[in-house]
Amino acid sequence: TKVPFIEDLLAKMTIEEKIGQLNLVTPGGGIATGSVVSSNVEEKIKAAKVGGMFGISGPKKLKIAQDFAVNDTRLKIPLFFGSDVIHGYKTTFPIPLATASSWDMDLIKKMAETAALEATADGINWNFSPMVDVARDPRWGRIAEGAGEDPYLGSAIAKAMVHGYQGNNLTAKNTMLATVKHFALYGAAEAGRDYNSVDMSRTKMFNQYLPPYKAGIDAGAASIMTSFNDVDGIPASGNKWLLTDLLRKKWGFKGFVVSDYTSVNEMIAHGLGDLQDVSALSLKAGLDMDMVGEGFLTTLKKSLDEGRVTEEEITNACRRILEAKYKLGLFDDPYKYIDAKRPKKDILTKKSKTLAREAAKRSFVLFKNHNNILPLSKTAKIALVGPLANNKNNMLGTWAPTGDPQLSIPILNGFKNVASKAKITYAKGANITDDTELAKKVNVFGTRVDIDKRSSEELLQEALDLAKTSDVVVAVVGEASEMSGEAASRTDISIPNSQKRLIQELVKTGKPVVLVLMSGRPLTIEEEFNLPVSILQVWHPGIEAGNAVADVIFGDYNPSGKLTATWPRNVGQIPIYHSIKNTGRPAPSPAFEKFKSNYLDVKNAPLLPFGYGLSYTSFKYSNINLSKKEIAQGEDVTVSVTVKNTGNFDGEEVVQLYLRDVVRSITPPMRQLKGFKKVFLKKGESKTVELVLTADDLKFYNSTLDFVAEPGDFEIFVGTNSNAQLKATLTLK
Ligand code: IFM
Repeated sequence: TKVPFIEDLLAKMTIEEKIGQLNLVTPGGGIATGSVVSSNVEEKIKAAKVGGMFGISGPKKLKIAQDFAVNDTRLKIPLFFGSDVIHGYKTTFPIPLATASSWDMDLIKKMAETAALEATADGINWNFSPMVDVARDPRWGRIAEGAGEDPYLGSAIAKAMVHGYQGNNLTAKNTMLATVKHFALYGAAEAGRDYNSVDMSRTKMFNQYLPPYKAGIDAGAASIMTSFNDVDGIPASGNKWLLTDLLRKKWGFKGFVVSDYTSVNEMIAHGLGDLQDVSALSLKAGLDMDMVGEGFLTTLKKSLDEGRVTEEEITNACRRILEAKYKLGLFDDPYKYIDAKRPKKDILTKKSKTLAREAAKRSFVLFKNHNNILPLSKTAKIALVGPLANNKNNMLGTWAPTGDPQLSIPILNGFKNVASKAKITYAKGANITDDTELAKKVNVFGTRVDIDKRSSEELLQEALDLAKTSDVVVAVVGEASEMSGEAASRTDISIPNSQKRLIQELVKTGKPVVLVLMSGRPLTIEEEFNLPVSILQVWHPGIEAGNAVADVIFGDYNPSGKLTATWPRNVGQIPIYHSIKNTGRPAPSPAFEKFKSNYLDVKNAPLLPFGYGLSYTSFKYSNINLSKKEIAQGEDVTVSVTVKNTGNFDGEEVVQLYLRDVVRSITPPMRQLKGFKKVFLKKGESKTVELVLTADDLKFYNSTLDFVAEPGDFEIFVGTNSNAQLKATLTLK
């Protein structure tokens, strides 16, 4: 239903004013992720040539910009203000791949609510998040920004984030528009190289890659951002099948579609024509707003005059943008998010920092606890070493442009805060990398890799000397934050050599070694994993990094995170994920067999499977039961299982349910995540955990893209990770 206020406004608008609303600008000065920034922004706003801005914040600056729009243009249409609030605004939470590992939807929603509270306090009312791209290739740096490899978990997270940002009421002053991005398939870039082509069958798209976008839209996301890649040969920003046939007609999306940064212009390089051609193509495909590139602003009128686009197409795009502003209540009060008192009141509060610490510790994944050395005693003599052990520049992780790295708590400080009686000594031990070329590329937006003036020998010796006189060594190692993220693809995803050497030499001292591993992606760590060390994966933990790591290392919190992306043994196994198909010649396990689907040099199994993560305690699963063994179409079934805490610590476990459709009309994955529940169990405690499999969970998109459940048997596996073995069989009549 049309909004009468907007229809009246549209009736008054000239074609130039309508086209102006389709233009999204960034004035530069902050982080620009393309080669151009917008020019003459002030004049353009005053000339009604701008619909919204991003990349600036704060009530003072935004008031000036809004004044230009409201006071200096004929129709006084307010601007909206966007931003990339990816994992927190000023209170930076762990990177999204980390928070996904918490499998805690309430926590994820709370973080989104807090991000919205802080961003709106600074005048932002439109967020370029959540990033919901399924990613199965850890070479791709932007795997850090999403929920990992799985569409089921990714959908739950997309929904939680949209609800968190938008709340129930978009006119409230502490909620903002969410943007589901990057539509579509951006995470499937060939060879893991950012912005690369994507070519995928429709059944794979519908079953494996599209569900999280749809879940975000079903949750009410107000906008969607197109991706840079092509989909079936047509870049997303100009892809009518994607933006109109699927998004609007099939899925019923009512919001507006924004391009990614100059992605319309980039269609020239893709080989689709000149700026006028690609701009007309994009508008006709269903794109509403053009980010930075100004193809719409500079060519649409000409295309209209030449009959290449229609006035109706321009009006429709403009209507969607005005409706979004209307939803925010900007026509009632263009200054409603501009309140000089709010930043102090709502940003970086004690409450939000407590949440950041909570989120971080709940996102860590325990890979190995050699000789049960963890948790450490709070009075131990500890050599804390490694290039990330006392380092503020890399705690926040990638895409935290609104956060301040200098506010983050280094690991060393966290250790001292949490274990004030421990005897802690510190040495850097190694550079993050000794490769100066890599350092240059990573340091584009500030120093992340700092190559020490001391020689590597000196750095190493200092760490070894401390190690030898300590009870235990904690080495904080891994990637700098900008070694993942946008345009940060790697073909070698191992720990850099400088740090590998440090780890090996530390192990040789014979002291117990705990690796605290930071990264924005799954790494290839088989060599380190096989050493007699313990490993806690902490990603890039955000503003409260040190405190949260200390909470887990000293046992104030028992780790409960589980991987949401498979960790390969080597790069040759990529792409790698749990929901693989069987092939006609499945590999025998564990041996190699000629003429089977296996490698000569490495097992098929990953190093660490999806869903993997240990605890300081142990859990035992038994008694799998189904509420019904046979169901009819449309019926749900409850799966119950007994989980017992059999160890010496209280702890949480993510109970996971995987489904295998044994026979169906298109080849089924061997198993797919279809349920999970995070439960807390005191030591010795047993609980019956119930998971509901809905009628939709049995469905898939068949070769005609109908969403169906086909009669037959379904195997259900429940357990602690995607290798779960406890099994029951359900029959669909
Ligand atoms: O939102 C981002 C997107 O994820 C990558 N390109 C730039 C956009 C705006 O900053």
